[in-house]
Amino acid sequence: MTTANLYNSRPQVSGNPKPDAAPEAAKEQSLSKQVWLDGQLVPAEQASVSVFDHGVLYGDGVFEGIRVYNHRIFKLTTHLKRLYDSAKAIRLVIRQSIDDLADATRATVAANGIENGYIRLCVTRGAGTLGIDPFRCPESTTFIIADTIKLYPEELYRNGLDIITASVVRNHPASLDPRIKSLNYLNNVLAKIEAIDAGVLEAVMLNTHGNVAECTGDNIFIVPSNAPQDNPILVSPPLHAGVLEGITMNTVIDLASDAGIDVQRRDLTKYDLYTAREMFLTGTAAEVIPVTKVDQRVLGDGQPGPVTRRLIDAFHALVDKNAPED
Ligand SMILES: Cc1ncc(COP(=O)(O)O)c(C=O)c1O
Repeated sequence: MTTANLYNSRPQVSGNPKPDAAPEAAKEQSLSKQVWLDGQLVPAEQASVSVFDHGVLYGDGVFEGIRVYNHRIFKLTTHLKRLYDSAKAIRLVIRQSIDDLADATRATVAANGIENGYIRLCVTRGAGTLGIDPFRCPESTTFIIADTIKLYPEELYRNGLDIITASVVRNHPASLDPRIKSLNYLNNVLAKIEAIDAGVLEAVMLNTHGNVAECTGDNIFIVPSNAPQDNPILVSPPLHAGVLEGITMNTVIDLASDAGIDVQRRDLTKYDLYTAREMFLTGTAAEVIPVTKVDQRVLGDGQPGPVTRRLIDAFHALVDKNAPED
């Protein structure tokens, strides 16, 4: 079984420590991996899509990244709803029903013996002509990969991430709405390159107004500097800022509400990030991770703050015991 190392990058990067490389033995072990492809589980080495697939030619398709905790597929129903909404937004017809894809996802997890891991579910436009016209692709292609996952190094969850703001601007919602979780991640890739060049692991992307949108693969929360110490609030950019409606983000908003912490959705500028008392990122792969430095500005006392720690604990209490599947 290989390990999805979502954060691995060039080894010479300074700043935050790099994740370990995937084990050398992975190639051999991957022979037993099963991928669900258009209705069947097939050995990974036989799971391939056409070079005429518009997912390959144009990044034309949608996807989800989903966690498995203790054999339970966290928020599977919510992920599938978002997948079908993304598909609808780009007029992509998914050949399977939502219930059939849920069953296929469970079957893939079981076939690969995944207790704790990560699922990548993709639907491409399918094979067509070399032109862009999506309606000349008769059938979409669906595949599901279930794998284990390599997190950021554990110490970053204790000490916090060092991040930058990228110069590349987040896609304008009137152009390619970031709420569509499309297979076209070039906007994010360009910002990620800036992060890696700067020697860090993540970058904040601003929108065309210069307001904070999100990171390349995560949503952003801050505790603003003027929040009362005894009654702190969280602030996160609104969806219209150009933000994926993160499932981890919504989970954390619910956990904050349970803890009596008010969450405001309003525009943030770089100034708000630089002066924040606390900051953390949320995402399926990253879970909830503190940020302690942005563009060389140390946040708070340079350590993850109490609100962040509390929500990290609440998140793990939720997923480690009985991760909800709906
Ligand atoms: C651009 C972007 N924003 C935010 C997120 C976090 O979303 P979720 O919590 O649903 O994984 C992701 C990850 O999927 C992402 O790729």
